Amino acid sequence: MSAEQLNNQGQLRHLISLADLPRSQIEKIIERAAHYSRPIGQPPPRDTILRGNTVANLFFEASTRTRASFELAAKRLGADVLNLDVNMSSRTKGESLLDTIYTLQAMQIDIFVVRDASTGVPLRITKHVAPHVSVLNAGESDVSHPTQGLLDVMTIQRNKGEVGALCIAIVGDIKHSRVARSAYEALTKLGVGELRLVAPEELLPEEGFPEARSYSRLSEGIRDVDVVMALRIQKERFAELGEIPDPQEYFRRYGLTEERMQLAKPEAIVMHPGPMNRGVEIDGALADGPRSVIQQQVTNGVAIRMAVLALVHEHVVAGLGTAR
Ligand code: CP
Repeated sequence: MSAEQLNNQGQLRHLISLADLPRSQIEKIIERAAHYSRPIGQPPPRDTILRGNTVANLFFEASTRTRASFELAAKRLGADVLNLDVNMSSRTKGESLLDTIYTLQAMQIDIFVVRDASTGVPLRITKHVAPHVSVLNAGESDVSHPTQGLLDVMTIQRNKGEVGALCIAIVGDIKHSRVARSAYEALTKLGVGELRLVAPEELLPEEGFPEARSYSRLSEGIRDVDVVMALRIQKERFAELGEIPDPQEYFRRYGLTEERMQLAKPEAIVMHPGPMNRGVEIDGALADGPRSVIQQQVTNGVAIRMAVLALVHEHVVAGLGTAR
């Protein structure tokens, strides 16, 4: 995969997965994101490096944070932005995904940002775009959400320092979570100290997390950790509706509260990728309280997406001379 994500000069061309992205690229993206980061309350950073380029947001699955932050990131770098309204597009008349891509590419799109509920869609698109065009995965089924993994690591580093000294617990529906997979890929690549997966047996993954230890008791899984990452129950990805946990029973056993967080280290932080279901996986008072870095995750998400757009732009520029 990395050969397809990097061009011949070692520049980031596509961002599809963190699984085999070199550690140096992960560090480079986070470092560039720091350049685009401003505290809440200060004006957002602006740049013009994407002036003359066009970014298309194709979200075939619902999103608030990722779609909005890719749009803001692209605009703050000076790009033209197309947000395709999928429900009003000709895909509802039977047009195929690839015909949609070819049609938009004919309008001189340089960067496609793609979210889809099916596995393999972003990678498939990379095989059909012009050489200078980039494809960014904005959430792929339960497989991968690379910019989320990057913003999660950036948020952890900014609050707790390098991940090598940290014990991190991911709590919730890990089995269906692309967020957990991308976080795992980034954290293990950066040498995380200890990674725990905490969930009822039926929501623990069967594979894909070889370096993590699993816990089915919340009280054991979050004991003495530095970071707790809560996950939503991904109702839309259950094969059978009857398998979805009862929300009240789930909160009773796995819901994160300030009281339960007393088991973690005193300065432990709480994260959540959003969207949250308050009173199911996390108590509202904890989500809004002093341990919570959830809003920081959102803010860092814009900086990470600016960084990724800025880095793939170097590939777009290198290829444009021959492409147009
Ligand atoms: N975390 C995340 O991907 O949120 P959205 O679904 O709102 O984009």
